[in-house]
Amino acid sequence: MTSDLSPADRAKRAAAIRACDFVEDGMRVGLGTGSTAAWMVRRLGERVRDEGLRITGVPTSDRTAALARELDIPVITLDDAGWLDVTIDGADEFDPAFNLIKGGGGAHLREKIVATASERMVVIADAGKDVTTLGAFPLPVEVIPFGHVATRKLIGELLAGYDVGGRDVALRMAGGGPFVTDEGNYIYDLHLKRIGDAPRLAAGLNRIAGVVENGLFIGVSDTVVIGFEDGSAEVRTLTAAGGAWDVLDGENIFADPGT
Ligand code: A5P
Repeated sequence: MTSDLSPADRAKRAAAIRACDFVEDGMRVGLGTGSTAAWMVRRLGERVRDEGLRITGVPTSDRTAALARELDIPVITLDDAGWLDVTIDGADEFDPAFNLIKGGGGAHLREKIVATASERMVVIADAGKDVTTLGAFPLPVEVIPFGHVATRKLIGELLAGYDVGGRDVALRMAGGGPFVTDEGNYIYDLHLKRIGDAPRLAAGLNRIAGVVENGLFIGVSDTVVIGFEDGSAEVRTLTAAGGAWDVLDGENIFADPGT
C-alpha cells in the first residue's frame, strides 16, 4: 500500500517508476544499488510479471542480484551482456551538470563499471539529492585492504592541494571492523563539505596506487529523474550546451488506484 510509505519512500518510488519507462522489451539493463534503486528493481519485476516484459538485468551488487532473482528478473553478468542499453541507479548527490556522488551504499565500484558500459545512465533521486555543489555528502573512495593506512595518508596529502571545504578521511566501519565491499575492499569516506573541482579531484584520487575507484561520477549520466513526496516525478535531461532542462512533468502516480 503506497499510503503506508514514508514521504521519502514515496519520492524514491515515484522516481523509480518513472525511470522504468525508459526500459523497453529486449533491453539489457544495469540494475543499481540502494533504497531508490530497489524500488526500480521492484517495478521492473512487476513489469516482467504483469506485462511479460523481457529484459536481462546486470546487477551492481550482490544485494541487488538477490532482489532481482527474487522477482524473477533474469540476471546475467556484465561480461555475458557485453554492453547495456541503459543503467538506472540512485545517487547520493547530483549537481547541475549531473555529476554525482555515489557509494553511500558501498557499491560505487561495480556501479561505475556497469554505468560506463551502458548506452545511457538514468539517475533516480529525491529532491534532497539535488545540490549546487557536490561535497556535503561524504565522498566514498574504495581502496585495496593491503597498505590501506598508507593509502589513507596519500589521500590526505592529495587533498591539501585541492579546493575542498574539509579534509577528514574516515575508514568506513561495520559490525566492529572495516566495511568490506562486494569486491573485498575497504572504503574511506572523505568529509569534504564542498568540492570545488570535482573532475580534477576524481582524476587525482584515482592516481593513488591503492585507490580502486572513487564515488565521483563525472559526465556519466545525461538524465536525472527526480521523485517527489506527492508521487509526481520530473525528468531532467542535459542539453548539448550542458544545461539541464525539464522534458516531462509527470502526473501523480499515487492518484492512480491501480498503482
Ligand atoms: C550505492 O553504493 C549508492 O551509490 C547508492 O546508489 C546511492 O548511495 C543512493 O542510495 P539511496 O537510494 O539509498 O539513497
